[in-house]
Amino acid sequence: MRPGHPHPKVFSRRTLLWMLASVPLAWALGPMLRRVRVQNQPAPVPIPPDVPTGLSVAGEAIVHRGPDGTVRAFASRCTHLGCRLDRIKDGTIVCPCHGSSFAADGRVLTGPAVRPLAPLRVLPDAATGGWIAHAG
Ligand code: FES
Repeated sequence: MRPGHPHPKVFSRRTLLWMLASVPLAWALGPMLRRVRVQNQPAPVPIPPDVPTGLSVAGEAIVHRGPDGTVRAFASRCTHLGCRLDRIKDGTIVCPCHGSSFAADGRVLTGPAVRPLAPLRVLPDAATGGWIAHAG
């Protein structure tokens, strides 16, 4: 509390002006950031009905078809620094950049990546009899 003032000073005038100015700025940036996030999401990936059992690469997706026919898909971006995953070796997904490897269920087997692959939503595609993998 400053001497002679009954109430403590909570914010300086400059801080208060910054706080007031940031509200419209955040309001204006919100839709722009949402648009950028949507643009960075991978496009839907068609998965053909004859996708083989095991792991395979289908465009921007890593697809795993189990022996029971269950299909799962993951984004084909490495969770370390974002390199495109396009190699399947000995039943694992291997990053060409720094050698991280991932299991068929997206788990990290060897680093430097520490986060699992991003799963994609797989929905049936009535037009082809296959599936379509969607982000989010
Ligand atoms: Fe994949 Fe570094 S980007 S291991």
